[in-house]
Amino acid sequence: MTVLVLGGAGYIGSHTVYALIEKGEDVVIIDNLETGHIEAVHPKARFYKGDIRDRAFVDSVLDKEKIDAVIHFAANSLVGESMTNPLKYYDNNVNGTKVLLQSMVAHGLNKIVFSSTAATYGEPERVPILETDRTEPTNAYGETKLSMEKMFKWTDRAHGLKYVSLRYFNACGAHVSGQIGEAHKPETHLIPLILQVPLGQREAISIFGNDYPTKDGTCIRDYIHVTDLAQAHILAVDYLMKGNDSNIFNLGNGVGFTVNEVIETARKVTGHPIPAVMAERRAGDPAQLIASSEKAKTILGWKPEHADLEEIIATAWKWHSTHPNGYAK
Ligand code: UFG
Repeated sequence: MTVLVLGGAGYIGSHTVYALIEKGEDVVIIDNLETGHIEAVHPKARFYKGDIRDRAFVDSVLDKEKIDAVIHFAANSLVGESMTNPLKYYDNNVNGTKVLLQSMVAHGLNKIVFSSTAATYGEPERVPILETDRTEPTNAYGETKLSMEKMFKWTDRAHGLKYVSLRYFNACGAHVSGQIGEAHKPETHLIPLILQVPLGQREAISIFGNDYPTKDGTCIRDYIHVTDLAQAHILAVDYLMKGNDSNIFNLGNGVGFTVNEVIETARKVTGHPIPAVMAERRAGDPAQLIASSEKAKTILGWKPEHADLEEIIATAWKWHSTHPNGYAK
């Protein structure tokens, strides 16, 4: 089977490409390298540098390659940036997906798995969150992902293009080999920021708010290992290849950790005291996000294998301590 991975040079995309190749699949990657890294591209994948908003470019790849299914990671994903520059998110995420779908429909390509997010829910009504719960994003990033989900729904209705939308909770960790990992610029995510302290790149980690209605006052998140996310994409492709209908799945461990607990675990893993300082709440942060992933477990047969937070942080530490500047030399 040949799988086209859009955004295959990015964080979750590169881990999924590694998992597909480990499984013996043929992989074609499209990435514009705006936030992705050429060093993260698996040497066995066929790589095309270009932008999914460029219809002629997407058509040229689909003309040349015989693709069975598409996995779509190519998007901007910074919540803060989406609030100051929402149109960038509508252009790349929504418009980019529209161009991609036009090309797929024209080429008779009718299977796609794509990255959605817990940010589609906004402030949850309850936890654990079910796929059928209210979706009311509190940021432009989540809104564009929800728009993409709706675009898929109507494209399915009109053209029979089947999709699986995977709503990730907090992606983290790195490939067990230590060869690829998380490398964002700017970095905004909790675990890599914490690990910058033992790397000597940051004095202390700031805790954004300690007056939330949680057990220690700090926000609770559901941290899910990137390799477990990668496996879910492979299962979702298999699900579509078997002729199943379009569907939406949450992906998380179903266990929440507070910011304090994550810092404490990182201290244990690194052996560094990692000083923490209290800071103001960050705008738009829900108090807690915890997934119910029962649907993915039941229907896709998904089983997260790196659910232990200590193990998750240990894989991240292996990557960051050997690549303190990410992919930069
Ligand atoms: N946090 C800190 N200090 C920091 C960074 C983060 O206390 O320096 C806290 C945040 O306030 C939050 C938690 O750590 O409570 C996790 O923050 P991240 O930025 O790592 O992740 P988010 O939960 O904000 O974001 C994740 C994904 C987004 C997605 C969002 C859905 O990274 O893509 O979940 O809400 F949109």
